[in-house]
Amino acid sequence: MDEASAGADPNPAPYDVIGVGFGPSNLALAVALAEHGGPLGGGPLNALFLERRPSFGWHPGMLIEDATMQVSFLKDLATMRNPVSRYGFLTYLHERGRLVDFINHKEFFPSRVEFHDYLEWAAAQFTDLVEYRTEALAVRPVTRDGEVLAFDVVSRGPEGERVRRTRNLVVASGLVPLLPAGVERSERVWHSAELLERLPEVEGTGPRSFAVIGAGQSAAEVAAHLHGRFPRAEVHAVVPRYGYSPADDSPFANRIFDPDAVDAYFGAAPAVKEKFFEYHANTNYSVVDLDVINDLYRRAYQESVRGERRLNVLNMSRVTATGQGPDGRPRLEVEYLPDGRRTRLDVDVAVFATGYRQMDPVPLLGPVAALCERDAAGLLRVGRDYRVDTGPDTRAGLYLQGGTEHTHGISSSLLSNLAIRAWEIVESIAAAPRPAGEAAPDESIRSSAYVRS
Ligand code: FDA
Repeated sequence: MDEASAGADPNPAPYDVIGVGFGPSNLALAVALAEHGGPLGGGPLNALFLERRPSFGWHPGMLIEDATMQVSFLKDLATMRNPVSRYGFLTYLHERGRLVDFINHKEFFPSRVEFHDYLEWAAAQFTDLVEYRTEALAVRPVTRDGEVLAFDVVSRGPEGERVRRTRNLVVASGLVPLLPAGVERSERVWHSAELLERLPEVEGTGPRSFAVIGAGQSAAEVAAHLHGRFPRAEVHAVVPRYGYSPADDSPFANRIFDPDAVDAYFGAAPAVKEKFFEYHANTNYSVVDLDVINDLYRRAYQESVRGERRLNVLNMSRVTATGQGPDGRPRLEVEYLPDGRRTRLDVDVAVFATGYRQMDPVPLLGPVAALCERDAAGLLRVGRDYRVDTGPDTRAGLYLQGGTEHTHGISSSLLSNLAIRAWEIVESIAAAPRPAGEAAPDESIRSSAYVRS
């Protein structure tokens, strides 16, 4: 093999798997690896996960106290494929001493705070596999005789820059917050993803007005949270629709998130794939849980009864410009779409709950991206096993968890299919055996990680 560049690990024996990111997707992969039970492909699999956060966190900036999950607790890290998993939500409840109370609660959609606690509980069982505070910076192909046999992953963490070699790379770096064109983050202009991390900065200043821009679940949750947390502040919700619209979580439509739906979508023609999204976008995009909508409406109505309006829903409206007023506060120009009228809105903080874009692994992959095959639309070609098509000269495996809506459909960036997807990836990796006689890079990791029952 070509030698890795400066900073390379002194022991070049590759890992079986390096995962970029340790959110729910790669946590589910760690669970699947642990439960696969090895030996696989010539020995237990070795894995390392790189996570840039200081500790496990699942959208911590939006961990609003009373926000609830949008999927059943049964769609946890393992239950869909292994109902008796020791990493399932029920095991977590049992260990926390809350199983009976949870049953009495009769709740299918627990709070996000509770699910976060569950995920942290599961992540804590894999700390020996994860390097926190470590960001993956680049990936380089490792070639011998014209074949790409492995990838070198360059990362920066507490120990400085390091290069680790792996036979399989699983990128699960997550959704990327999206601001409208021309909007810049600032001290008082935030994306909803940073809400709870930024609020303490303004809390002591007694903010009197907020703008919340967006029509989806996050926008509605942020508006409700600010309205409740700052009882003297006005909350202006700028909503491009006539009103918040409910998420379709009825049982037949919900099947779009089933494992079988991935098969149906994957094999469908491009025009049919478009129909999937056209028919069922309202299960996930720019929609809000009905109870959150009803709660907001109830608050607005009560205020109109009292004649003290604090929650203003500016419907059919969009922000056309952002700037600063003379006092340095954010100044928004808001257009009322039916007649084009523009008004000025000065607020203490503007929160853009304008969504996320899909994971894009290409910048991280660097020269490895050039090995990836693309479809007619220029998007990465990805196999049913989530392995990117890299052509016959690349034996190393590159897998994606996220960024595959064009191939695997609507659940690609969601929790719905975590357990199954992770298992499919592990099976694919296990099917390509480690070359005979090749050592694992670190015996301690190998034995502590994968020889679990
Ligand atoms: P996630 O974004 O969670 O994790 C990616 C990790 O990679 C992060 O920890 C990040 O720090 C790390 N990372 C990124 N680049 C890195 C690099 N170069 N090096 C090292 N680390 C790197 N879905 C659902 O099905 N049900 C639900 O209820 C919800 N609820 C929900 C609420 C909110 C507020 C949001 C924003 C989204 C949801 N979602 C959801 C969708 C959401 O995408 C999903 O819940 C998971 O976060 C997907 O998990 P991932 O691990 O793929 O990404």
